[in-house]
Parts: sequence; structure tokens; C-alpha cells
Amino acid sequence: MQTPTSHIFVRTSVVDSIAELYATKGLSRKSVLLFDENTRKLYGDRIIESMQAQGFQTRELVVPARETSKSLSSAWKLYGKMIETDVDRSWNLLAVGGGVVGDLGGFIAASYYRGIPVIQLPTTLLAMTDSSIGGKVAINHPLGKNLIGFFHMPELVLIDPSYLKTLPSREIYGGMAEVVKYGFISDRGFFDLLDEHFDDITALREPWLTEAVSRSAFIKADVVEKDFRETTGLRATLNFGHTFAHGLEKMAEYRNLRHGEAVTLGMACALYLSHRLGFLAETELAESLRLIKRVRFPKGVVEKRFLSLDREELFDSMYSDKKKIDRQLRFVLIDRIGHAFLHDRDVAKAEVLGAIDDAMDYFR
Ligand SMILES: NC(=O)c1ccc[n+]([C@@H]2O[C@H](COP(=O)([O-])OP(=O)(O)OC[C@H]3O[C@@H](n4cnc5c(N)ncnc54)[C@H](O)[C@@H]3O)[C@@H](O)[C@H]2O)c1
Repeated sequence: MQTPTSHIFVRTSVVDSIAELYATKGLSRKSVLLFDENTRKLYGDRIIESMQAQGFQTRELVVPARETSKSLSSAWKLYGKMIETDVDRSWNLLAVGGGVVGDLGGFIAASYYRGIPVIQLPTTLLAMTDSSIGGKVAINHPLGKNLIGFFHMPELVLIDPSYLKTLPSREIYGGMAEVVKYGFISDRGFFDLLDEHFDDITALREPWLTEAVSRSAFIKADVVEKDFRETTGLRATLNFGHTFAHGLEKMAEYRNLRHGEAVTLGMACALYLSHRLGFLAETELAESLRLIKRVRFPKGVVEKRFLSLDREELFDSMYSDKKKIDRQLRFVLIDRIGHAFLHDRDVAKAEVLGAIDDAMDYFR
């Protein structure tokens, strides 16, 4: 049986031993490589040459580097290219990129020929620590994000933290939001490490970078393995801050606010809510907020995308979150640093608005 982490490898340079890693899972050396334009340009030649030298047959697919690539029309085009180049069930798909490529690649792999194996090679901090792990793959529908998809576990997740050297700083900080989240929800020791080495990690200094990436990836894999289909409430704790974040993203129309930035602001709201409802002590609230404040935003983003919002409108936009159940919003809260839970009681609107106010005051 696969243990939660036996399919995740974190090392530089992971591609050098890709044939060996494929062999451990019985994967064929026939891979469709999916890139976006940026990852193709930055890493494509190196990866393809290395794989061919290790005896692989490869096919190459490239999509525009934007969220709209996660669509049925782009999947449809890619299916066509795969059929035309004789890709059958004996092939697998390697997704090389951020969450966009990982989600689209996973979606295609889950559906092509009723399912072929997918291998994730994440190249953003968010993808390395979150989206490539756990098997949720989806495309967007005009009526909402990530609404059409599958649970399709990757056979392998191959993580090479050195790929982050080319990632813009805004994406690094966006990814840090999810990393920090793991400290809040499941590991006080990890929180302390992040507190001490936040700047080392964002400066991509080793061994801190690899430590932060591995621990995040392994925490997510562990949670997913214990509650794969999100039935016990444990997997839902990965959404700490996300109910607020989805409301913020929706109000920004998914423009000029990175997901990680929305999650950072959302976690501040969720921390205040945890405190207001009597679960989180004042000292731990203050400690938590200090770490959150270290996630950097481009100038003007917090003002435009958070502080200037009407909080009632934000509240309404949170209700459009697809995770709502019977019009009741469920919040993930923490009762101490390192432990989250899904609060299953209805939370009074005044408390939610109050938490938004508190977080706005903190960021002002
Ligand atoms: N499946 C899941 O569980 C899950 C979880 C969280 C987010 N997501 C999805 O992930 C997506 C966001 O992912 P993302 O933040 O990685 O964004 P992204 O895939 O759009 O990548 C961000 C940008 O960085 C570029 N890039 C990627 N790697 C690079 C590198 N090494 N160097 C330089 N540039 C690089 C990309 O080309 C892109 O322009 C969203 O669609 C979201 O819905 C999925």
C-alpha cells in the first residue's frame, strides 16, 4: 500500500533520476509532457533532453500561462493533439508547471481514454506545497472556478525546489501563505521554524527552503490520506482562511489578487473569528498575526482588494463559495497554533463582520 508520502520526492535535480522513479511505480517510459509557455521556455529543453537520454518517448503540449487555460475548450484541443499523435492507454502525463498546468494536466489524465496515470512536477511554491498534492484536479466553468473535475491521485509528485529560482517574488509570497497555513492548522513546531526562518525561505536559502517545502507537502499528503474525499472534516481544515479568501477573490473578479494573497487576508479574518468565538487566546492571536504580516503584497493591493471593500458585500460574496452547505457558512477555526477544526455551528453574521473589521484594522 502507498503511504501518504511514498509517492512524493523532494530533491535537486529530481529529473536526473526520473526513469528510476517511474520504475518504482511501474510507469511506462512514454510520457506526454504538459507545460505552460513559461515552464516550456525555462525548463522544457532540459527536461525533455534528460528524459530522452533516459530512454523516454515524449510528446509535448504547451498552453498559455494563464488561468483561462483551465477550460474545457483547451482540454478539448489537447485531447485532439494526443489522439493525432497516437497517445493511448500505455502512456502517462507529466504536468510541468504551477497549479494551472497541474490541474489541467490532472483533468486531462483523469478523463483521457477513461484515465491514464498523471505525474506532477510542480514549479511554483503553491504547486509544490499544495495543488500538486492530494489528487483534486479541475477545470473552470464560466459559472465558477474548479467546478468540473475529478479526484485523480498523482502516481508521483516530483519536487525540485531549485526551480523556484526563476519564480517572481509575488508568486513566492503567494505560496508562502499556504506554507504558513500548515503551521497554523497542524504543526506548532513548523510554525516556530517559519517564524524564525521566514526570510531565509523567501530568499530561497537552503536548507530552509527544502525543509519548508517538504514539511508542507508531507503535512498536506498526510491530511489527504486520512480524509481523501473530505468526509470527516479533516481535509476541510486545509481550507483555513479560504471561506474569506474565496469571497475576496470573487469580489476582485480573480484579477490583481493572487490566491495566496487572498488566503493571507482570509487567514487574518479567520484568526480574529477564532478569537472572537473564544477558541484562540489573545497571545496566540498576536503571534499568528505577526507571522501573517510578513507575507508581502505589491503596493496598493491590500488597500484596493481588501480595505476599501464594503464588508456586507464581502459577506454576501462569501456565500457564493461552493463549499456552502444549506446556505450556512462553515468556518475552519483554530483553537491553538497547530490545531484547526471545522466549526459546525452557525456563526452569527455580526461575528463574521466583526472579524472582517478587526482584520481590516490590523492591516490599516
Ligand atoms: N488542485 C488543488 O488542490 C489546488 C489547490 C490550490 C490551487 N489550485 C489551483 O492552482 C492554480 C494556481 O496555481 P499557481 O499559483 O501555481 O499559478 P500558475 O500555475 O498560474 O503559475 C503562476 C505563474 O508562474 C509561472 N511559473 C510557473 N513556474 C515557474 C517558475 N519555476 N519560474 C518562473 N515562472 C514560473 C507560470 O507560468 C505562471 O505565469 C489555480 O488555478 C488554483 O485553482 C489547485
